[in-house]
Amino acid sequence: MPDQPLPIILDCDPGHDDAIAIVVAARHTDVVGITTVAGNAPLSATTRNAIIMRDLLGMSAPVHSGADRPFIRPPRHAEYVHGKSGMDGADLPEPSGPPASTDAVGYIIETCRAQEGIWLVPTGPLTNIALALRAAPDLADRIAGISLMGGGTFGNTTAAAEFNLWCDPEAADVVFSYGGPLIMAGLDLTHQFQALPPRIEMIRSLPGRLADVLAGLLDFFSGTYRSRHHGIGGAAVHDPCAVMALTHPDLFSRRPAHVEIETQGHRTAGMTVIDQRDLKEVPEANCDWLTHIQADAAWDVVVESVQHFSH
Ligand code: RIB
Ligand code: CA
Repeated sequence: MPDQPLPIILDCDPGHDDAIAIVVAARHTDVVGITTVAGNAPLSATTRNAIIMRDLLGMSAPVHSGADRPFIRPPRHAEYVHGKSGMDGADLPEPSGPPASTDAVGYIIETCRAQEGIWLVPTGPLTNIALALRAAPDLADRIAGISLMGGGTFGNTTAAAEFNLWCDPEAADVVFSYGGPLIMAGLDLTHQFQALPPRIEMIRSLPGRLADVLAGLLDFFSGTYRSRHHGIGGAAVHDPCAVMALTHPDLFSRRPAHVEIETQGHRTAGMTVIDQRDLKEVPEANCDWLTHIQADAAWDVVVESVQHFSH
């Protein structure tokens, strides 16, 4: 684990698993700010949910809302997984107020220019991150890197594409070609990290409202996963993997890879084309591809993070 908490901006679309990512980030990183994007639910819902989680954790980080739709394509959401609110399944408090601004992209640019060495941790569609990189190319040399949840060797929204990248393939193409440090937690990794019933009980057994809320969210999230998948044990808890890749790197195996984003395919748009050929002609790696997670140890990190805020 790094000596000092790493400064991050968490760009998210809460989202049940985004909520878990916020908890782990609050515990193990210096969350400089939270930015929201449309994805699992419309922007108003993901922003409301991010503020609720920020409040429940007593965080001081500002929440700034961002893109309410992808670069080019129409907005697409995942109510069938996360419910209408984006975080169905729990008795949530009302948010303490509106977002600090509706200019997440400007916030990301200003903050990363004022403080070098920030990690951008996107766990939703990459629209905000791509817009910031396009508007301020100097960010590529100012940020520490990008650790994202998205992509992988198979899809969940189509046979080829994972939801975050499927929503906005053009934005993903900008991010994967930005040239700086990039960590990819794709579905081949995150499906190793499931909210199995005994794991949810570890959270439910903790005192206080936060544990109740998170257990309710994970019950709902796992219910939708079991209703849609053959034989899955619980919901794949995708988004905290992008955070723990930075805070607990020893829990992961990773390999450098050259990854390109399909943006043209009728059936494959949003696909991460991971070049696994053993050929000298393969282009230089542009990301660290996370391939394995020590799931029990990683879940202990999640539980300890919840416990830290539970009283
Ligand atoms: O495909 C999984 C990803 O899409 C996760 O980040 C989930 O929260 C949704 O945003
Ligand atoms: Ca997400």
